[in-house]
Amino acid sequence: MSLTTCNVHFAQQSDKIVYLSRPLIKQLKLSGNKSVHLKLGKEMITASLKALKRSGNHLYLSSGVRNSIRVPKSGNVMLLSNGDNELQLGPLVGILTDTIHTSEGPFGSRSGFIKQVIRTGDRRAYMFVFTPRDINWQQGTVYGYFLHAGGNWYRRIVPLPDVVYNRLPSRRAETSASISALKDRFIKRQIPIFNWSFFNKSDVYKLLDNDPEALKHLPESVSNPSAAKIKEMLEKYQFIYYKPTSGSLGIGIYRLTHHPRRGYFARYRRGNRNVLVRYNSFQALMRMLQARHAGRLSSYVAQQGIRLVEIDKCPIDFRFHMHKNGNNTWVPAGIGAKKAGRGSVTTHVNSGGSLMTPQQALSHTFGSEAEAVLERAKSVAIKLSEAIERNYPHRLGELGLDLGIDKDGNVWMFEANAKPGRSIFKHPALRSEGHASVSYIFEHCLYLSRFQGGTAT
Ligand SMILES: Nc1ncnc2c1ncn2[C@@H]1O[C@H](COP(=O)(O)OP(=O)(O)O)[C@@H](O)[C@H]1O
Ligand SMILES: [Mg+2]
Repeated sequence: MSLTTCNVHFAQQSDKIVYLSRPLIKQLKLSGNKSVHLKLGKEMITASLKALKRSGNHLYLSSGVRNSIRVPKSGNVMLLSNGDNELQLGPLVGILTDTIHTSEGPFGSRSGFIKQVIRTGDRRAYMFVFTPRDINWQQGTVYGYFLHAGGNWYRRIVPLPDVVYNRLPSRRAETSASISALKDRFIKRQIPIFNWSFFNKSDVYKLLDNDPEALKHLPESVSNPSAAKIKEMLEKYQFIYYKPTSGSLGIGIYRLTHHPRRGYFARYRRGNRNVLVRYNSFQALMRMLQARHAGRLSSYVAQQGIRLVEIDKCPIDFRFHMHKNGNNTWVPAGIGAKKAGRGSVTTHVNSGGSLMTPQQALSHTFGSEAEAVLERAKSVAIKLSEAIERNYPHRLGELGLDLGIDKDGNVWMFEANAKPGRSIFKHPALRSEGHASVSYIFEHCLYLSRFQGGTAT
């Protein structure tokens, strides 16, 4: 196995010929070989091999070769020698998403992020975007979107890719039978795909239910709790969070409190206001929940309330954006601290929350211990990611963990997102972490496609 980069040129001949510059032939130990198997993605061709008097790493593909394995463009890319006279161009990396044409581009608000990922692979890989409709399984091809250096999109038909980064945006579409079948087809053709799909909160709790390592960082969580169970949890913990299992952005979340003398309270977002309502009895509280969500409470989760660190009486929690790197191990790529808006149940920016660095957030409570608390939280985040991965039947490469730190410095996980948003990286202090995050995605693609191992020796 050896890996190098080469400059691909297109030649006019229609025969199936691959020309390699002398240094490349030497480096790849192909001297004396008359033919070579050349691969791109899942496509392969056998072509005659000819040496070219030229210095540097150059590879010329006749149109016969280029058209049959569908090389999308000339220029620099990696070249992997698998031994056995086999060369592979690539990697060919597909980003799976959906088109929503807006002024921001064919992929709506995700266009900017997708362009970043593609540019990270510039001159090292063939990166493209595609949607479920762009795959032709019979021919084994994809009609992909490629990015010009100037920022415009163009389309090329390419073979099935070496690896798929799943960024399908819709929770509902992703659980449909056709999308599940599509993902299964990639697996059957041995094309790794990460991440598999969105998580539901209750799925993650169930996943970790038998994992003692993770369990000590999970608040007690009960899916579809009976009224009696809710009452029991309120007595045990004084306050609980009551949230929809497939919710996001804090929508539909209640913070329920029981005060022995003053009664029951519900804090939640009504319209665009944060309200706190008092109830004389537990029954009255339950009647309100029923009335607001008739029939849909069965998909709610009740969770032990955690007393988070605060600044000015506003709770703070943390988003740990986790990636698998080029060595297939988990790293916290970026950490954002989020302070809740006044009176808000959650820390989301759309309900008045604000973003800060973890150092800012923790030094307020822990002073000189802040750095140690943060380091501990990072190692918990890695352990939790490993635990989720270990108990999950599909491949994961990226996770957004919503973690809380209580006043004693204990770390708690509220939810894990398999398609995490990127809003923390908008903070000026987290911009370089944002770039690092994108690099990890690319490096993990290299790992999964086996385009690794440094340069040839
Ligand atoms: N059990 C809990 N104890 C304390 N705070 C919580 C709890 N559950 C949720 N929160 C707060 O609410 C926020 C949103 O909850 P989360 O489970 O992440 O739901 P969503 O999917 O809407 O983001 C958390 O980031 C945290 O600030
Ligand atoms: Mg959340």
